[in-house]
Amino acid sequence: MFKNLMDDLDSIIERDPAARSRAEVFFLYSGFKALRSYRKAHWLYRHNLKFLARFISQRSRKKTGIEIHPAAKIGKGLFIDHGMGVVIGETTEIGDYCTIYQNVTLGGTGKETGKRHPTLGNNVLVGAGAKVLGPFKVGNNARIAAGAVVLDTVPDNATAVGVPARIVRVNGVRPLNLDQIHIADPVAQELCRLEYHVTLLEREMNLIKKRENEEKYGNQMPDAKEENKKTMP
Ligand SMILES: CC(C)(COP(=O)(O)OP(=O)(O)OC[C@H]1O[C@@H](n2cnc3c(N)ncnc32)[C@H](O)[C@@H]1OP(=O)(O)O)[C@@H](O)C(=O)NCCC(=O)NCCS
Repeated sequence: MFKNLMDDLDSIIERDPAARSRAEVFFLYSGFKALRSYRKAHWLYRHNLKFLARFISQRSRKKTGIEIHPAAKIGKGLFIDHGMGVVIGETTEIGDYCTIYQNVTLGGTGKETGKRHPTLGNNVLVGAGAKVLGPFKVGNNARIAAGAVVLDTVPDNATAVGVPARIVRVNGVRPLNLDQIHIADPVAQELCRLEYHVTLLEREMNLIKKRENEEKYGNQMPDAKEENKKTMP
């Protein structure tokens, strides 16, 4: 237990340039306080003392503004920075050494039952205000940008940004556009090209006809009725 506590403390010091000592983190960091309460509540929850577990987690929410359901599964070295407004739902799973900023929700969409919250791999970063909603996986070393709303699986080493979130980097490289739905329709494009060429040809033909008529009749175009009379048998 003492080793876990030290792990949690050291991992915060490693990742927060503002943290000066273990004592500072232990006494002053709300994320660390919430994590300590969670570890107690989780132990009670696993030993079937569910009411007491929820009591501790709700009291911790009042003090820190961070709500972690005691049934959630959290690995070592979680760093909740600033903390206020963080919600971690009942069936959430979080790997080791993840970082979560303020106003993050690891929640459900309201459509699922049973496992309805996300599973985060190891070393995942979830930026301020991001919402990760649903029972899918966020891969190891993934980065969720501040303000993103993630509704689907995020692969290992990927960066997801935006609303709804899309993958913009995998291993630091921009992925190929594999979107098969929003690509231009090649048949429609070919038809468009053909229509354009037909219009050009029609214009050409009209000009040729006009020139021929001018050569035949000078500037005076024949009356259509007269012309018909001439050609009618
Ligand atoms: C996403 C993040 C982790 C950077 O990850 P990264 O893999 O290094 O990504 P990059 O910086 O290379 O950016 C990749 C693309 O996403 C865009 N992007 C980055 N962060 C974004 C965000 N929050 N929202 C929308 N787009 C974002 C970049 O502009 C870039 O766009 P491009 O593909 O057009 O060039 C970082 O931008 C972030 O949001 N960190 C959260 C930090 C935080 O919450 N701090 C709070 C402190 S109090």
